[in-house]
Amino acid sequence: MAKIAVLGSGTGSNFQALLEEFADEIVLVISDQPGAGILEKAKAAGIPTALEEGGPGLSARILKRLGGIDLICLAGYMRLVKDPLLSAFPNRILNIHPSLLPMYPGKAAWEQVLADKAEVTGCTVHYVDAGIDTGEVILQEKVAILMNDTAKTLHARIQIAEHRIYPEAVRLVLKKMTGGAL
Ligand code: GRF
Repeated sequence: MAKIAVLGSGTGSNFQALLEEFADEIVLVISDQPGAGILEKAKAAGIPTALEEGGPGLSARILKRLGGIDLICLAGYMRLVKDPLLSAFPNRILNIHPSLLPMYPGKAAWEQVLADKAEVTGCTVHYVDAGIDTGEVILQEKVAILMNDTAKTLHARIQIAEHRIYPEAVRLVLKKMTGGAL
């Protein structure tokens, strides 16, 4: 069975959605934020956690903890993944982003979308490469923008879609990794 590590900086709702499908596979949660909700959720679920705050050697420190891990899922992780971590997991690091990439990469994409008066947005699961939200797309789901949407209501609706496509994308990637035998 594949072993998954989840990295996150925030509330951890995507982690929770992944956990519902991959309770046996998720064996470690790492955060860079001591008070992050994702750590609380992991502890409540009995999953080992680690704190790796920013600063020198962050990628190497994280990599050291990942012995035996097959797949890394970023779930609201607010840092760039760099070497040596990045090259140790080629096509083995996934991210969820709250827009239809390649449109609106970067922070608070739902605010960028509203400022642009776009009519549709969505979310994307993609492989992580060295760029900011530039890796190959695995799955996307569209989310309509409503006339009276605020940043909060739009993000909340995008998150509902995120919680659907992230587990689905992980399933696809695991299937690919195991040559279809799942
Ligand atoms: C999500 O909207 C995700 O797309 C973005 O950060 C947010 C994380 O939310 N990368 P949560 O911590 O999973 O609730």
